[in-house]
Amino acid sequence: MKIITEIAEMKEFSHNLKKSEKKISFVPTMGKLHKGHIRLIESAKRYGETVASIFVNPLQFGQGEDFDKYPRDIEGDEKILSDLNVPVLFYPKSDIVKNTDTFIVNPEYSKNLEGLFRPSHFQGVLTIVMKLFCIIEPDFAFFGLKDYQQYALIKKMAEDFFLNVKIIPVETIREESGLAMSSRNTYFDVAGKEAASAFYKILSSTADLFKKGEKSAEKLKRFAVKELIKNGFKVDYVEITDPALNRKYQNAENGDILLAAIRYKGVRLIDNIIITVPEFNSGTVSN
Ligand code: PAF
Repeated sequence: MKIITEIAEMKEFSHNLKKSEKKISFVPTMGKLHKGHIRLIESAKRYGETVASIFVNPLQFGQGEDFDKYPRDIEGDEKILSDLNVPVLFYPKSDIVKNTDTFIVNPEYSKNLEGLFRPSHFQGVLTIVMKLFCIIEPDFAFFGLKDYQQYALIKKMAEDFFLNVKIIPVETIREESGLAMSSRNTYFDVAGKEAASAFYKILSSTADLFKKGEKSAEKLKRFAVKELIKNGFKVDYVEITDPALNRKYQNAENGDILLAAIRYKGVRLIDNIIITVPEFNSGTVSN
């Protein structure tokens, strides 16, 4: 696997791929790769020549967040990527964000859900993803649905700027317990991880209530919050909205998405589930 650290070299590499008419499939990550990332890479490989990137982006961490202790394991990551036959890893130095004066913001949607609790987070995410897109010029880029709001905002950014990249959502990969794979799970010990798995179980039971006929968004949310608190979680938010994240209403509808963020033992987790009645369930998010 070729490891590129310089922006100019990465640009030239991408340029040459394009000259040879190869499609570029891009998987941006912050490293400490897990099965969720592996699924992103596997999806990407079906679309073209795969470029993965690893960069723990300081722009998307707020003050007091876990930038310094965010798990890093470049040797382990290199091994995983080479075993997956990824041809190129872009591993930029911090000069990719130094002296940045221009930022990408989506004022409307960066302020709800995650944006309310992490006010500068999406500005940091959109800005680094735009930078990476400008360097790599991918034809396809892959984002996990655990970070649903991130996926939705990046997709909107690509549309708003007429970017020549198709944003592809990839299903959330879970532990057997239901806990969504996340690099931050490494903060838990075994017992903590087991306890944290109640998070998704509660989202699933809330989706079950909807299936059984409860349509009131308020009641569904109240049920989820009560169960989360009962299990020792601190709840940042539980919200039900449409896949474009912009509907406010009283009743939940088929295909809506239930999103939540909790804190447990000092670790912040997000997750979501699509709520559908069985005959409607297509198993995918419309995009
Ligand atoms: O999802 C992530 O790992 C990050 O937010 C991303 C998209 C790589 C941007 O830093």
